[in-house]
Amino acid sequence: MKKSFKIISVVLALVLVIGCFAACQKDDKTKEPQKEVLVMATNAEFPPYEYREGDAVTGIDAEIAQLIADKLGMELKIEDVAFESIIPGVQSGKYDFGMAGMTVTEDRLKDVIFSDSYATGVQVVIIKEDSDIASLDDVAGKKIGVQTNTTGDIYATDDYGEENIVRYENGAVAVQALLNGKVDCVVIDNEPAKSYVAANEGLKILETEYMVEDYAICFAKDNTELKDKVNTALNELIDDGSVQKIIDKYIKA
Ligand code: ARG
Repeated sequence: MKKSFKIISVVLALVLVIGCFAACQKDDKTKEPQKEVLVMATNAEFPPYEYREGDAVTGIDAEIAQLIADKLGMELKIEDVAFESIIPGVQSGKYDFGMAGMTVTEDRLKDVIFSDSYATGVQVVIIKEDSDIASLDDVAGKKIGVQTNTTGDIYATDDYGEENIVRYENGAVAVQALLNGKVDCVVIDNEPAKSYVAANEGLKILETEYMVEDYAICFAKDNTELKDKVNTALNELIDDGSVQKIIDKYIKA
């Protein structure tokens, strides 16, 4: 009697231990390992680099950033903010990086560091089809719409004077102002310019290019660790053709 009781106790204990072990293992499987979040700041009013499709931000930058995050084993979170908030937010650590068809400039290099360049941008001038502006010289003295703090804003202010610049929150609003006759032209990057011209009747792009520039991803000055990791991933994606594939998907030659 005593012996069989002992055996039953041992068996019961074993069953308990094994059961618990199995349960714990199962529990472990349901808990996906938490991925570290990588926060990107952009301004999603810049097709085809970034724009909204419903609630989601999509476009060239969003897709390249996703591939970079995948390579780093991190979860990408995109914040859509005003263009001029991107650099301050990256500096303060609110965002891990900024990716917004952003041009590398000497001035910005005082505040942030940049990855290698992944695309070329060209500043162009959008005018109305019946405009009397036929060259960059003709822009002098005209009202110029720009998106605040972009290179279009900075260069046009330098070349044509503060008094001729009208600043808008984003390219779409600047183009609306051109359509409404509030400004005579809009200085903006060529790819968004093409989208705006395609989406609105009566607009065209001045043939002469205004400025050629490099787009890159920005980081806080002390965040060289993330910059280096992103650069490695980015260069792999450039070398294996993934970046070009994304660009070709959005920009038809
Ligand atoms: N390339 C220009 C710049 O860096 C314009 C970029 C605007 N980007 C945007 N997502 N709104 O200043």
